[in-house]
Order: sequence, then C-alpha cells, then structure tokens
Amino acid sequence: MNKKALSTDSYKGVRDFYPEDMAVQRYIFDTWSKTAESFGFQRYDASILEPSDLYRAKGAENEEMVNEQTYTFTDRGEREVTLRPEMTPTVARLIARKAQALSFPVRWYSIPNLFRYERPQKGRLREHWQLNCDLFGATHYSADVEIIALAHQLLLDFGATPDMFEIRINSRKVFVDFLKSVGDSVGLELSEETCLDILRLRDRQDKMQPEEYVKQLEKVIGSQEAYQIFAEQLHQRDNVTTFDSDGLDDLELVGKGLLALGITNIKRDSKISRGFDYYTGIVFEIFELDEHKKYTGRAMLGGGRYDNLTAMFGGTPVSGIGFGMGDVTMRDFLEEHKLLPENIKSTGTHVTVIPQTAEENLAAQSIAHRIRQAGFSVSTDIGTRKVQKKFTDAKDKSTKFSIIIGADEVKTGSITIKNLSSNQEETGQLAELMNFLSVA
Ligand code: HAM
Repeated sequence: MNKKALSTDSYKGVRDFYPEDMAVQRYIFDTWSKTAESFGFQRYDASILEPSDLYRAKGAENEEMVNEQTYTFTDRGEREVTLRPEMTPTVARLIARKAQALSFPVRWYSIPNLFRYERPQKGRLREHWQLNCDLFGATHYSADVEIIALAHQLLLDFGATPDMFEIRINSRKVFVDFLKSVGDSVGLELSEETCLDILRLRDRQDKMQPEEYVKQLEKVIGSQEAYQIFAEQLHQRDNVTTFDSDGLDDLELVGKGLLALGITNIKRDSKISRGFDYYTGIVFEIFELDEHKKYTGRAMLGGGRYDNLTAMFGGTPVSGIGFGMGDVTMRDFLEEHKLLPENIKSTGTHVTVIPQTAEENLAAQSIAHRIRQAGFSVSTDIGTRKVQKKFTDAKDKSTKFSIIIGADEVKTGSITIKNLSSNQEETGQLAELMNFLSVA
C-alpha cells in the first residue's frame, strides 16, 4: 500500500508560530497590553465562535460579507456559526448585555485572533491577531482625541518615531453633511443610503480603475450635470489635508485636539471612509511611511466612532469609538524599521542544568526542581550530545547560568554555577548558591 504522506504545511493563509515567532508575537502583545493599560483600558475576551446573525444583522451588504468573507458553518444543532472576522460586533454585544450595570465611560481592550476568507497577500492573511481598543459611553470629541492619541502612543512605545507613520483622519458625519450640501446646491436631495453608497465607493476607489470609479459615481449621483459639480467639489475637498480652518466641526476639533497634544503626524483625508457600515463619525487609519514620506503598503490600524451598533440588541444605544491594529502589519513595520529588540529570541531560561551522562539525568532534574522552587526558571539538557555541545547550546539560547552535573557532583552534593555572561563561577552546596543566581 502506497499511502501519500501528509503535508506539513499549515492551512492556506494562516501561520504556525515556532518559538522564535512566538517570542516576537509575545513581545508585540505585551507592548500592546502595556500601552493600552497605561491609558486605563481593561482587558476582555470572548469566544472565536459567534452566531452568524451577529454579522448578518444589518442588511444585504452584510449578507454578502458573511457569505463570501467569513468562515461560516452549520453546527450539529443546526445553528449557523461564524468564526469572528472582527471584534467590534462582539464587544458591542458584551456592552449591550451589561449596559445597565456598567459605569460609563468604559475603556476595554482585547487581542483576539480573527478569521477572514480573503486572498492571502502581503499584510493580509486569513487569520490574524488584532489589538482592539474601544471606549464606550463618551460622545465628547475628547474621547476621539484620546483614542487616536493611544493609537499614536502604541507605535512610539515600540520605539517608532512620528516620521515613520502618518494618521489619516476623516469624519463620516462631516463628509455626509458636505455631500448633502453639494446636493442641495444642485437641487438634489441625497438620501442617507446614497451618501453611504458614495462612501463605499470611495473606500474601494484605490482598488478600481479610474474610469470604473467615475462610471459608478455618476450612476450613484444619477445625473451627468450634477456629477460634474460633485467631482469638482470632491477634488477640492480632497486637497484639504491640514487642520487649520476656522470650522468647529468634529473633524477640526479632533485634529486641533491632537495638535495640542503635540501629535503632528496627522493628515485630514476625506478619502478615508472605512469598509464597515457601522461607523458614523470620526474615522481614521495609520499608514507606514518610508524615508521619503511616501506610503508603503496597507493600513496598519483602522477605526472610528460608531453610534448605533449596540442598538441592534435593543435598549438604549451606547456610542463607541475604537480601533483595530493587526499583528501582521505590526511585525512587518518593526522588522522594516529594525525596531525588534536584539534579545527577543531569548527563551527566558535562566539556568540550564547539564548532566554529563545519562547517569546524572535524575540528579540534574532534582537540582533543577529545587532551583525552580526558589523562583528561577530552569531547564535541564538531558540530551545525549557531548557536554561541550550542550554548553554552547545553552549559551546560544541566552541562558544566564549553567550547572554541569557529573559523578563527583552527585557524590559530594557540591556544584559549580557558572555565570555565562561574566564567566564568574561559584562552587558549593546548592542552598548556599542561591544568592549568586539572583545576580542577573
Ligand atoms: P479593519 O480595518 O478591518 O478594522 O482592521 C484593522 C486592522 O487589522 C488593519 O488596519 C490591519 O492592520 C489588520 N487587518 C485587517 N484584516 C487583516 C488581514 N486579513 N490580515 C492581517 N491583518 C489584517 C476592523 O476590524 C474594525 N473592527 C476595527 C475597530 C475596532 N473599529 C472600531 N473598533
């Protein structure tokens, strides 16, 4: 029988995390958590499985999203289940369920893995982890300023400098008001749905041929004459990139608020509209810049304000503002800018106990056990290689101390601990040597 061996490849578009990848992943998650907590955010989590209705709830567009871009299946109890493609509907569900008991404003963060059935490409995979920070129950624009300042700080805390990235900000509300006023000027009363169609079109604009975009925009607006006016007005608006007008709309207020905090790598960008329909106010994205201040690749972070998402669960709606930041683009960014710390591959192993031969394996385990009980991290190298090889290996793994156990050590109980960075050694009974181990 000639059975074909199974492939060792992972499923398409997902990653395996070998220890060296896991070390990077942990570093990213730890830094994310630290920064989020420094802004008073509390961590929450939920299951990766959600009832599919959570994503279907808002009409036909969502129907298409669930059918084509998610992992959805029917379980044995005939329930339709989806692997969460994003965290925002989930956190809205959690907030809505406890809205009566929570004391707002609530600041929550999580680092979920998300699944999207998309074509794997640079910066986009079928499974990614995403830091989600959301602030609920505060509608004042200072909440928007805080959320964007947090996004900014997240990058600084990895050692990035503001010239390495740019925050592009828009407001759906301000933009819809603008569209309506252009409509009024040409005698067209634009419905919310038409405005949303225009937003969706602009969100996809970069992925479309220019002629196709023009054709579709003309179709949405309905008249060739009105289209010309819209195209002109949109063009003018797209050229406004700074926050120095006298206007006091939420977009200007947020921009000026950020400038007042000393955050200057921000840009007003009326093309930012974000893919999800739930956003109602400020929307923003962060892009990596190269040394010529040019955008490279895809957005590293995206978010915005959503006023009505919790309303789908009934009860009084609670407004939220937040963002998601992906681990794939985060890692690319850190590698690109050489911001990953040198010692990241460290196993964290503090002490390696090396038996000379298999005879001493058990004695080595016993010494390791005692050192571990004293609060240190310890591993034993019970492999069959030569002691010198084991010793070199321990050094490579950034172990701080090594202890070689041979027949003499077993007999006398006297051991030698070597500090691998200073080459200093101490010999004696284990109990007397614990202080030496504390010297990092
Ligand atoms: P999003 O723009 O879909 O927003 O995703 C946010 C970030 O997650 C992106 O900027 C990117 O870094 C990362 N990301 C998204 N899709 C992928 C993928 N397929 N592979 C790798 N990375 C990816 C949201 O998901 C909103 N729910 C965020 C939010 C939270 N809005 C308010 N609160």
